[in-house]
Formats: sequence, structure tokens, C-alpha cells
Amino acid sequence: MDLGFTDRKVLVTGGASGIGLACARAFRAEGARVVALDRARGPADVDTVLADVTDEPGLAEAVTTAVRRLGGLDVVVGCAGISGPVGTPLVDTSAADLAAVLAVNVTGQLLLAKHTYPHLATGGAIVFLASDSAFVATPGMAPYCASKGAVVALTRALAVELDRVRVNCVCPSVVDTPMARADLGDEAIDHADFPVQRVEDVARQVLFLAGPHARPVNGQALLSDFGFSARSSFPA
Ligand SMILES: NC(=O)c1ccc[n+]([C@@H]2O[C@H](COP(=O)([O-])OP(=O)(O)OC[C@H]3O[C@@H](n4cnc5c(N)ncnc54)[C@H](O)[C@@H]3O)[C@@H](O)[C@H]2O)c1
Repeated sequence: MDLGFTDRKVLVTGGASGIGLACARAFRAEGARVVALDRARGPADVDTVLADVTDEPGLAEAVTTAVRRLGGLDVVVGCAGISGPVGTPLVDTSAADLAAVLAVNVTGQLLLAKHTYPHLATGGAIVFLASDSAFVATPGMAPYCASKGAVVALTRALAVELDRVRVNCVCPSVVDTPMARADLGDEAIDHADFPVQRVEDVARQVLFLAGPHARPVNGQALLSDFGFSARSSFPA
């Protein structure tokens, strides 16, 4: 099936690692032109502009550079994110920890939309990486859960405000990435007694929402969690 990305111009934040890198490669495999925006340099096969999404002037300059390299802009994918404290009780969570997570995961996405929207072609798309943590929680991750809930609300807010483009988000359960391995440990991922997504799984979800086959889908959060959140408390 032709996903409709031939010669489309795609910007992916967090494109140096994990889900963002998989998205960059998946768009390229579909014939798109891709530039990654990341605070770290990734593998050499991905054209990367260095910037921190929390630094508004630096982000604006990097977006201009990326759009010039791409020759326009059709799709923006916001994957840059951090997990912050994991397994830290609320009473031990500092305001600085909370502010750092919100700065990248919420303000970073908002600034990304602010500075890319003027460049986006009519019919374009923005896809944010939220998380299943917007809907379900494990103890000790309150800042991350709050940040991802905010991304879902931001998605709806922008979908109704930005009239030329669609805005959706993907909310995956645990994905095998450097972030997840750093947070949970290699053992927990390699011998998981819960389902773990591959980065390619999430990239396909992103490509669907970003492409013309999702033309009527706007303001939505695609919760991909193997159905865990659908289960009733009734023990049937
Ligand atoms: N891995 C999971 O289990 C999982 C599950 C659900 C959602 N997510 C979300 O998916 C997204 C990607 O996560 P991942 O697991 O691929 O992580 P990752 O750590 O492998 O990749 C994140 C990338 O974002 C970049 N980044 C971080 N802060 C940045 C900043 N301030 N400015 C620019 N770049 C920055 C990093 O350099 C890195 O390249 C995140 O938003 C994360 O919250 C991850």
C-alpha cells in the first residue's frame, strides 16, 4: 500500500534515538525527505539539526534550518521527551524534577508546533508522542504521567486551533528504546512478563496518523497498549 509520503518533507524531533529514529527511517523508507532535530547527534544515516526543544530561540533557528534543507514542510513528529524520576515517591519529587519533565515533554511540544505551523503546508500533519501514561499509571512517575496527560490535551487544543493541519498523538505502552532500558533495566525488557512494543511498531502508528489515509482523524490520542486499559475490574 502506498502510504503517500513520496517526496513529503518530514521533521522529527528526538530523531537521534529510539522511537524518533525509527520514525525518521520509516518515513525515509516510504520516499519522504527527513530531517531530525535533537539535542544529541544520532546515527550518521539521519540528517540531524542540533537543538534543544526547550530553548525557544534555538528551536526556532533549527526549524528554519530544517525547513530550508527539506525545501518545505508537510509533517512534524514530536518524539523528543524525557522520563524524569522513575520509581520516585511523590514526597521525594522535587519541583525542579517536575519542571524539567514538563519543560521537555509539554513546553517542548508546544514550542515545536508554534514554530513549525507557519511553515506547514495545507493538509499537513503534526503527530506527538504522548504515552499510555496519559491514561494509566504506575507508582513513582507522577511528573511523567502529568506531562503525557498534558500532551493529549495539547493535541486536542491544537487540532481545533490550527486549521490547515491535523494534530494527533500516539500513546504507546512500554517500547524497547534506550529510555525504557535506562529506566527499567535490560533484564526487565529482555525477559519481560508484559508485552513490549518495538520502535518499528510505534513508527507505523505515527506514519498512519501523519499520512493521507488518516485524513478524517484529528485531535485523537491513539492508545496502543495491547488492550490493557480496556479491561474491566469485573473478574470474568
Ligand atoms: N520508550 C517507551 O517505553 C515510551 C513509551 C511511551 C512513550 N514514549 C515517548 O516516546 C518519545 C521517545 O522516547 P524514546 O523511548 O524513543 O526515548 P529515547 O531516549 O530513546 O529518545 C529520546 C530522544 O529525545 C531527545 N531529546 C530529549 N530531550 C530533548 C530536548 N530537550 N531537546 C531535543 N531533543 C531531546 C534525546 O536526545 C533522544 O534522542 C518520548 O516522548 C517518550 O516519552 C516512550
